[in-house]
Amino acid sequence: MQPIVILLLFTALASARAPRPPRPHNVNDEILDDVVALDYEVVASEASSAIKIARTSSTWSNITVCNGHAELCSRKYSNVSMVGAHNSPFVVPNNLASNQYFKVTQQLDDGIRFLQAQIQFPKDDDGTGPHFCHTSCALLDAGPIALWLTEVRQWVDAHPQEFVTILLGNGNYSDPNMYVPYIESTGIVAYAFVPPAVPSTNSLTSASAAAATGSMPLDDWPTLGDMLSAGKRVLMMLDYKANQTEYPWLLDEFAYLWETPFDPTVASIPVNATLPCTVQRPPGLDAGTAQNTLFLMNHNVNLAVSLLGDTVMVPAVALLNQSNAVTGINSLGAAADVCIETWGRPPLVLNVDYYNRGSPPGSVFEVAARLNGVTYNNTCCGKTLAPTVASGAVRSRASLFKAAVMAILVKAMWLL
Ligand SMILES: *[C@@H]1O[C@H](CO)[C@@H](O)[C@H](O)[C@H]1NC(C)=O
Ligand SMILES: *[C@@H]1O[C@H](CO)[C@@H](O)[C@H](O)[C@H]1NC(C)=O
Ligand SMILES: *[C@@H]1O[C@H](CO)[C@@H](O)[C@H](O)[C@H]1NC(C)=O
Ligand SMILES: *[C@@H]1O[C@H](CO)[C@@H](O)[C@H](O)[C@H]1NC(C)=O
Ligand SMILES: *[C@@H]1O[C@H](CO)[C@@H](O)[C@H](O)[C@H]1NC(C)=O
Ligand SMILES: *[C@@H]1O[C@H](CO)[C@@H](O)[C@H](O)[C@H]1NC(C)=O
Ligand SMILES: *[C@@H]1O[C@H](CO)[C@@H](O)[C@H](O)[C@H]1NC(C)=O
Repeated sequence: MQPIVILLLFTALASARAPRPPRPHNVNDEILDDVVALDYEVVASEASSAIKIARTSSTWSNITVCNGHAELCSRKYSNVSMVGAHNSPFVVPNNLASNQYFKVTQQLDDGIRFLQAQIQFPKDDDGTGPHFCHTSCALLDAGPIALWLTEVRQWVDAHPQEFVTILLGNGNYSDPNMYVPYIESTGIVAYAFVPPAVPSTNSLTSASAAAATGSMPLDDWPTLGDMLSAGKRVLMMLDYKANQTEYPWLLDEFAYLWETPFDPTVASIPVNATLPCTVQRPPGLDAGTAQNTLFLMNHNVNLAVSLLGDTVMVPAVALLNQSNAVTGINSLGAAADVCIETWGRPPLVLNVDYYNRGSPPGSVFEVAARLNGVTYNNTCCGKTLAPTVASGAVRSRASLFKAAVMAILVKAMWLL
């Protein structure tokens, strides 16, 4: 393999970090398929066991602890901060486009309460429906959404006192009916919170107050205790094209929540400034509405790297101990404090890459505990399960070669 091919691949992989809509990569799909295609195998029997009986919702009168703390039961959903796993399913070993180290059950065991994932369709439909893929399924394919959502539903089954938020990215802007049968097949919908009203289109950004109905200002949210007692343990959102008239449980993200800039980038190492807490999406949100609306802080910090004359964004993995720390320049804690200074309250979500890395590991949860005014018990991370996915996957020689190439790239990245 020529060094130039490695560099082209490197560029293509790194450009996977670019904001949506995805840019076409600049190497052809043949090369990507050959060298980068991931080593995951769908176990057919697992796919069919993902078809679950719909559950009836019950009322739980014995909820005493919410998300690990009794104090949080009486707090509105809008008055709790949680740590989010940016690109939660992307835990493919030795893939540069991965964002997390542990797979979703371990993420939840460790205290992640917000899961973000981007849906795409593989080029060759193998009958498993939509998958979670990073930009393109040739680049990183984390498997069918039904398998991942079943794993989440199983965790939720076993944890009646935990509330989990799921944000699905509509990778090719499909009609939600392309995804809904697969989501419903997992049984998770029975747990999903349904807001009291359907929001009008662009409810947060509409110029006319009369036209802007159905979104939920901070005070309108129920408490964690109320939702859990009603058997609602999940809030599910879609970033684009949700239709709550048709699917009331699949919320239109930008009718309820705004986000700080996607893939925030630092200019240099050492980092010498903390990023500002500004509104990026939905565009056109006025400050007054933003002040009274849930928001998500993206803190998956990226580094701009100059490569063959191009500037590409790569996850600043060497900076994770700083960016996921409690204090220090551009730490998660400092960034949350900038949000508090700007908006008068902390973000709903602290969205991070490799949540298990920090100063020391677990620091991201310490930040959330501080914002929530509760005690952090310092037990994180990765204690209950073996790391990553692909357990039991038999690797072919070709996939070992792919893994070796990826390992070299990953090694190069971690040294940046
Ligand atoms: C709460 O009530 C449910 C339903 O009655 C029961 O299955 C569960 O074991 C109870 N949990 C606790 C902690 O008492
Ligand atoms: C953390 O530790 C304290 C003191 O031991 C305990 O009271 C509390 O329940 C623990 N919290 C969690 C979430 O485990
Ligand atoms: C909860 O609300 C109080 C009162 O507005 C505020 O001081 C606190 O920062 C909020 N906490 C979170 C986590 O939103
Ligand atoms: C998304 O991909 C699916 C599967 O390839 C296709 O059927 C659908 O038309 C695409 N949607 C858009 C909006 O491109
Ligand atoms: C949403 O669903 C309703 C009910 O099926 C339908 O009438 C409406 O046209 C849909 N809206 C969009 C934007 O697709
Ligand atoms: C941070 O460092 C960069 C590069 O050295 C420099 O251009 C920039 O002015 C510095 N910013 C601050 C706020 O010191
Ligand atoms: C992060 O790790 C680097 C390299 O190991 C070290 O130089 C730096 O001081 C660490 N930063 C923090 C905040 O721990």
